[in-house]
Amino acid sequence: MIEPREYRKRRETLLRQLDGAVGLVFSGEHPLPRIGKWQADENFVYLTGITRERGAAILFDPQNDNPRRRISLFLKPLDTEAERWDGYRERISESLRQKTGFESIYRTNHLPAMVTVALRRSKRAACLLPFSVYPSEPSADLKIFQQVAQRVPGVRIEDQTQLLTTMRAVKSPAELRLIEQAARITVSAYQQVIRHIRPGVNESQIQLALETVYRQQGGDVAYGTIVGSGINGTVLHYVDNDRPLEDGDLVVIDSAASFGGYASDITRTFPVSGRFTSEQRELYEIVLKAQSQAIKASRPGARFWEIDSAARSVIEKAGLSDAFIHSIGHPLGLNVHDVVPDHPLKPGMVITIEPGIYLPERKVGIRIEDDLVITRNGHRNITQAVPKTVQDIESSMR
Ligand code: GLY
Ligand code: MN
Ligand code: MN
Repeated sequence: MIEPREYRKRRETLLRQLDGAVGLVFSGEHPLPRIGKWQADENFVYLTGITRERGAAILFDPQNDNPRRRISLFLKPLDTEAERWDGYRERISESLRQKTGFESIYRTNHLPAMVTVALRRSKRAACLLPFSVYPSEPSADLKIFQQVAQRVPGVRIEDQTQLLTTMRAVKSPAELRLIEQAARITVSAYQQVIRHIRPGVNESQIQLALETVYRQQGGDVAYGTIVGSGINGTVLHYVDNDRPLEDGDLVVIDSAASFGGYASDITRTFPVSGRFTSEQRELYEIVLKAQSQAIKASRPGARFWEIDSAARSVIEKAGLSDAFIHSIGHPLGLNVHDVVPDHPLKPGMVITIEPGIYLPERKVGIRIEDDLVITRNGHRNITQAVPKTVQDIESSMR
């Protein structure tokens, strides 16, 4: 649980860092799914804790002479017809101001005029949202700033996309508690489900068993579960999960819970029969060694490419460099693939370490993935309790 005052503190920190420039953050306009949850963009969630207000915005107007109007929330007008379908929304009231910690809340029809006034005053527009890559549409804040700049002479547009990224990259104690709870739930699910792995069980049953535990323990499914046996384990984004496990195959399981909106991300590779063949074991040990070298390299000051090289050199030495076709890992947080800051690792960052080798001609895919919290002295592996050595895997499958 993240307290309203923590969200408020994040907004105030960002306001200070804007150093007088105007900023805009949107919840997103992507359409509601016909059935299912709509989810606001993570930067908006990070600053508000609000996950359900489509088309909402935060305006940072640091030079407003009314201190209460330096950070304002804009919500779409109520639509009683739509709400019968999609859920009831709150009116703007004292209780909403209390709950959100925003002193100024308006409807979005006031946003264009207020952005224009803010920019006439400040003349500096700071892009906070990640830039898109052409030919996709420009990012939402840049698009608006360009329109205002055509109407207000002298407005300068700045790249401040690292501000939110840098803030989000280092997790607060409350965020770390949520990620660690997500990891605990996932660990316990793997520990239970490892016993169901045997020939004849369908990949879908493994998926269902894991995801049931996530939900029973108050979590959610963090991303599309991958249960790939045999050649399916060599498909990085395998989605079918519909094949019976066969004796002699390896099965790659990449699945995890989220908790309170924060993701964990675990992969393990198990022998369906409960025992690795000698060929499988030899390959598995290479990936495990690559992972342990990368984990050892994970500490404050390290760069992702250094951690990647630590793993890659083990796999290269084994003559398998072409089989390690992805990068070593990624930051973890509100997104499974969370924001990537342009600075080296710092205490409070959370990353995954997930080397793999994929040999379709031998029907063998192997990936091992753990989640590390970077600490002052190195790291803490928060998912290591899922069996990982050949010996631990074989004895827990017995
Ligand atoms: N589960 C997605 C990933 O490992 O990056
Ligand atoms: Mn994963
Ligand atoms: Mn991952």
